[in-house]
Amino acid sequence: MNVSDSERVATLLDSEGYVITSTESEADIVLLNTCSVREKAEHKLYSRVGAIRDLDDRRPMLGVMGCVAQLEGDKLITDRRGIDFVVGTKAVGRVAEIIKRVTEGEDVVDLGDREAEYDWSVSDRQRNSPYVSFVPIIEGCNKFCTYCIVPFSRGREKSLPASLIIDQVRHLNDQGVREIHLIGQNVNSYRPTSADGLEGIPGATPFAKLLRAVAQTGIERIKFATSFPRDFHPDIVDAIDEYENLCNWVHLPVQSGSDSILKAMRRGHSIESYKKRIDRIRDSNRDISLTTDIIVGFPGETEKDFQQTLDLAEYCRFDSGYIFKYSPRPGTPAFELEDDVTPEEKSIRFQELQRMMRKTQREAFDRQVGKTLKVLAERTSAKSADVLTGHSTCHRLVNFPCDSALLGRVLEVEVTETKVNSLFGRVKGI
Ligand code: 5AD
Ligand code: SF4
Repeated sequence: MNVSDSERVATLLDSEGYVITSTESEADIVLLNTCSVREKAEHKLYSRVGAIRDLDDRRPMLGVMGCVAQLEGDKLITDRRGIDFVVGTKAVGRVAEIIKRVTEGEDVVDLGDREAEYDWSVSDRQRNSPYVSFVPIIEGCNKFCTYCIVPFSRGREKSLPASLIIDQVRHLNDQGVREIHLIGQNVNSYRPTSADGLEGIPGATPFAKLLRAVAQTGIERIKFATSFPRDFHPDIVDAIDEYENLCNWVHLPVQSGSDSILKAMRRGHSIESYKKRIDRIRDSNRDISLTTDIIVGFPGETEKDFQQTLDLAEYCRFDSGYIFKYSPRPGTPAFELEDDVTPEEKSIRFQELQRMMRKTQREAFDRQVGKTLKVLAERTSAKSADVLTGHSTCHRLVNFPCDSALLGRVLEVEVTETKVNSLFGRVKGI
């Protein structure tokens, strides 16, 4: 979501005549986009600000956007950390106007709401990839999981009109984009205020309808993330079974394998209901890859709770997973609980879970050897110009020797080898 916001800000500034520099040292204005989901991410902001202000000869104008901007607001300026302006999570559309006011000598902290007529488009030039594009479909979060700061930093859920999303996908398709990612904190909680754009489309939920409507645009590949387990309707899997351009990858964060911890996290799902979702995904006639997020060391997590997380990870055979050590976030309900799992214990659990997840990832990778995957040739690899890199439909990273003239094409790649976090193969066909 932050990468997508950065692309939009770059698009807006570009259209106002600003030049986006390739290095920070050339810039007159530096805008730092920030994350506050864990304490470590928040600390990064302060060290970056310090490094920029330590430059002896230059004093670029310095702004902060993103979640830390939204949560800290005025404090970022009054604390005299050397920050000149603050752009809240909903004020990105006003970034050019904000910079103009700062140039005229004003201290600006804009935490206001997004204007009604907001332009979501990202210019070709400012997209991270010419072939892959993010399409936000829902912003914010209403779930209030007890550990999480996002509902406070990004506000309540707001779904974008389906007609706007579909038009945007058609436009991206015309521009040569091959893969889109429908993004949001919880894409499957998508609930637009009007049925505009979804009339006559079958589906058990508005999100399942949206998936089918987007698939019908004919764009080559559609991925979506993140899904919220409680709202993960089996019809989403039916839609994937029906449309080949809906990719076979589901990111479904489970957070813990213990019902009592899930309850304390207020996730709204149980282990049994999560497993049911997994079983339906595994029953699909597509080979759907499954990824997750897990937090270790939530307050009150016992050895037994953690053992249940290991058991669940074994049951689900995740293709990969992000593991996080619980980080108390001021302002969240869990912040009031004692952070009673020691840092050492969190590290031990982190490593143990990582070992288990690497094992299932390895098995999933090994099963791919000899198979032919459809891979989008996204860029040349960092190591060699003769090797291209891209993702399969199931979102695995694949490297393969290939002529760069084929960038932007979806290629049939036979997997010959597995590496730690990627696959290696050879092109079989176009
Ligand atoms: N501590 C640790 N991990 C967290 N996440 C969210 N909040 C916290 C926190 N306070 C993790 C969750 C979420 C992912 C994006 O970040 O696993 O799914
Ligand atoms: Fe945070 Fe929970 Fe919302 Fe995800 S669903 S953003 S973890 S509050």
